[in-house]
Amino acid sequence: MTIEEKIGQMNQYSGGDATGPVTARQTNLLKEIQEGKIGSLLNVKGASNTRAIQQVALKSRRKIPLLFGLDVIHGYKTVFPIPLAEAASWDLDAMRLSAHIAAKEAAAAGIHWTFAPMVDIARDPRWGRVMEGAGEDPCLGSMIAKARVKGFQGEAPGDTDAVMACAKHFAAYGAVIAGRDYNAVDMSEKQLWQTYLPPFKAAVDAGTATFMNAFNTLNGIPATGNDYLQRTILKTMWKFPGFVVSDWNSIGEMTQWGYAADMKDAAWKAITAGNDMDMESRAYVKNLPALVKEGKVNPALVDSAVARILTKKFELGLFDDPFKFCNEAREQLVMNDKASIRAALDMARASMVLLKNDQAILPLSGKNKIALIGPLVKNKKDLLGSWTINTDTTNVSSVYEGMLSHAKNMQVVYANGCGIEDSATAGFAEAVDAAKQADIVVMVLGENAAMTGEAASKTNINVPGVQEALFNVVVAAGKPVVVVLMAGRPMIFNDIAQKASSILYAWWPGQAGGDAIADVLLGKFNPAGKLPISFPRNIGQVPVYYAYTNTGRPLKQEGKTGYVSAYKDSWNKPQYAFGHGLSYSQFAYDSLQLNQTTMSDRGKITVRFRLRNVGKYAGTEVAQLYLRDDVASISRPVKELKDFSKVFLEAGASTYVEFSIDKEKLSFYNNKLEWIAEPGNFHLMIGSASDDIRLESDFKLQ
Ligand code: IFM
Repeated sequence: MTIEEKIGQMNQYSGGDATGPVTARQTNLLKEIQEGKIGSLLNVKGASNTRAIQQVALKSRRKIPLLFGLDVIHGYKTVFPIPLAEAASWDLDAMRLSAHIAAKEAAAAGIHWTFAPMVDIARDPRWGRVMEGAGEDPCLGSMIAKARVKGFQGEAPGDTDAVMACAKHFAAYGAVIAGRDYNAVDMSEKQLWQTYLPPFKAAVDAGTATFMNAFNTLNGIPATGNDYLQRTILKTMWKFPGFVVSDWNSIGEMTQWGYAADMKDAAWKAITAGNDMDMESRAYVKNLPALVKEGKVNPALVDSAVARILTKKFELGLFDDPFKFCNEAREQLVMNDKASIRAALDMARASMVLLKNDQAILPLSGKNKIALIGPLVKNKKDLLGSWTINTDTTNVSSVYEGMLSHAKNMQVVYANGCGIEDSATAGFAEAVDAAKQADIVVMVLGENAAMTGEAASKTNINVPGVQEALFNVVVAAGKPVVVVLMAGRPMIFNDIAQKASSILYAWWPGQAGGDAIADVLLGKFNPAGKLPISFPRNIGQVPVYYAYTNTGRPLKQEGKTGYVSAYKDSWNKPQYAFGHGLSYSQFAYDSLQLNQTTMSDRGKITVRFRLRNVGKYAGTEVAQLYLRDDVASISRPVKELKDFSKVFLEAGASTYVEFSIDKEKLSFYNNKLEWIAEPGNFHLMIGSASDDIRLESDFKLQ
């Protein structure tokens, strides 16, 4: 291969939608493909399109097939709940299946590679991209990263019902200052290793084929030009064998950061730092040939990047059959098959979180007269959420349709009340009237699909527009009000939290959202979702997360301030804590036993307890194991999730649940960045949520 042909393999353009600012649009894409100047395209969809373009690549001198990449984030044709919603299921097998179905559909349509999973830990709900990840916790986030990588990639590279995964955005993009997208990140090494890197490491261990770097700087250095992240950590310490793609023009953006003088300098810095493929900046294709000729870039760097990229093309089997994935017959066959539609419904049900259920207003009997009120009652398109490839609403059920089809004899009155972003209150009177006619009111409120996602950071994360004002006038009518909230992020809704009888957080539930919500409201499915991220009570608390450190002056009792670490005008604790989520049933925890209370360095402790379903309904509980290192060489969080178990129990049934604790679960990064477990006392907590601990004990590491 000539140097230009090699660099062509490192060059990626969009062949369809722009999923970033359009800077330098290619004039003649097909000509450049035929000249061997492009190794990969993103955003081309459909088997016939990918097939036609692949034909052109095969006319190039080296006949190297193209890689087709796409953001298959929560489904291709079958639209699943957004990733943050799926994370609320704490169901690793279901998330793996959801990724697998997305991969199967995408692969049949000619896609080789998804830019997912996003494994960025996110503790700031202002950040729009919080919807794409697994929330705030590195333990849960790592398990989900693994499940999603395995789901997308299937059994082995080259499976025709799988695509390559891409762990993104390396690294710490979720910690952008003030939650503003594309912003800088400044954090300690310890925080980076302890909290933000574990899901990326889990993705490497699960065999992810690729990584994407990030738009942010990390301690002053853009992630895209960051040698420490990409070469030292990823390729050397973690021995990652795959390739790293930049984010959209993130090589070019290094000039805006003031880190590169011009595109040539940016290209040099990016390849030196270990960025293998250039998405959309043209910096590589335009400047690397000269940089190599001038001796500024060692050709071995180019060879290494190209080898990584070509290896993936080989592993996919594209050199044996470049059309292996663009199969129109298979495309017809796999889209929206019955099992996939069913899986989207199961996932949507499992992702719903019952935040509140006073006086057990839910489940509804189906016999009452219901007022359905709110701008999202009849909505279909916003249920799909952002980052959706299939925006067709033919297969989408609205809440209205779901409720009517599930409770055929239920009497329903409907009022819109207001629009999602409205400031007008003209529809309030009709809504109040509807509420007065009913026994129970169900309000469906929330965000539209454009409000959370990339470039959708917000400083106000209240329920948008006048929706909470609408709630206030409706609740004043005196009927019990159930509120279903839909959004891509945690929202703030203090009046609703205080006055609603029941609150169901449905996120953006995907195509089966309406049916899933109806199933939950009507008791055909007992909710079991648990929050993967804390919900703040006000924006001033952000970031608020459960694994905080105690401070030297911890608050003992909310509301009692003084010389303690607290706010004068707000509680410390969030509105809803990480791990919170109710069921129509109740679960009792008892009979905690540790097989020993002193653990040797190589030993392990088996923890066992009884879980009983003491409610009236069959249901599922996610029992959570938290640990605290009481005294250590650095101040450690008050609790950290270490394991969980999702258990189904018939009403009245019980079972024993076991967790195993080894040294790994007791380890942390000290200030020398050593991963160690220090001898001493550990506190063990088992509960239904991070703020609902039911069983506690202590043990020692010798
Ligand atoms: O994959 C995405 C990335 O997450 C954000 N910028 C655009 C990329 C390609 O669409």
